[in-house]
Amino acid sequence: MKDFDGKVALVTGTTGIGFATARRLAAGGAAIIACGIDRSANAAMEAELEGSGAKALVIGADVSVPDQVRDAVAAGVAKFGGIDIIVNSAAVHPYGTAVSTDFETWNRAMSVNVGSIYLTAHFGIPEMVRRGGGAIVNVASVQGFACQQNVAAYATTKGAIHTLTRALALDHARSGIRVNSVSPGSIRTPILEKAARGENGTDADVESAYKRFGEAHPIGRIGEPEEVAELIAFLCSSKAGFCTGADYKIDGGLTAGIGVK
Ligand SMILES: NC(=O)c1ccc[n+]([C@@H]2O[C@H](COP(=O)([O-])OP(=O)(O)OC[C@H]3O[C@@H](n4cnc5c(N)ncnc54)[C@H](O)[C@@H]3O)[C@@H](O)[C@H]2O)c1
Repeated sequence: MKDFDGKVALVTGTTGIGFATARRLAAGGAAIIACGIDRSANAAMEAELEGSGAKALVIGADVSVPDQVRDAVAAGVAKFGGIDIIVNSAAVHPYGTAVSTDFETWNRAMSVNVGSIYLTAHFGIPEMVRRGGGAIVNVASVQGFACQQNVAAYATTKGAIHTLTRALALDHARSGIRVNSVSPGSIRTPILEKAARGENGTDADVESAYKRFGEAHPIGRIGEPEEVAELIAFLCSSKAGFCTGADYKIDGGLTAGIGVK
């Protein structure tokens, strides 16, 4: 018996940490409902999961749009019978200060990074209640604790995810639903690759940027999406039965110190 046999997991974001998590949960026996806006990434995920024999429904959806999340939940429930796990990994990462960020970009970050978590909870929690409980993991960031410069909207969304995680955990604990977040440091994914290429896409030496980012972490390297997926899988599993309302850092010690050499 595998750790997620018989479980159904809704995952947002079909690249990076979302993809690694879908792969890990599927390897544990879960059926996967994945939602992503990137059609070619969706196709790659679907091909890999189906090729590995997993049960998967990969849906092209903008997870900041209520009807699209409602329909994705409904399609997943129609295909697999319910939802037991939600992993919210989809996000955008705009650069800018409050002055240089226009209001449209600000609102987009709020609605993709935070609104999507509200939407998957709004439509998904009633399905989890019908199954007798479940687990939600939201992917936040170390930037929710201590932020870099020039990412005002992104960092704000990550702090909001910590708060929304606590609110969901308290409101639904007695329904058997556990809600936690993870806060990664730098992880080798498309979002970090964009950061490595620089705000204007000019710095093309991605590997040396990754080395530089890694050196900022006491452990001396950046993290891998599979390492984050493993933590998320633990939090989704029955082994984490007493964990709720908490954030779990996975940052190579980044936020443990100040000015560490
Ligand atoms: N990689 C890192 O260094 C790092 C560090 C801390 C936190 N995070 C967080 O991890 C999560 C996953 O990011 P990642 O690192 O895997 O990068 P990623 O770019 O691979 O993943 C983000 C995914 O969200 C999807 N997405 C964006 N807008 C969407 C929308 N409107 N609807 C549906 N899907 C949408 C993208 O297509 C992409 O697949 C994000 O929440 C990110 O903020 C990443």
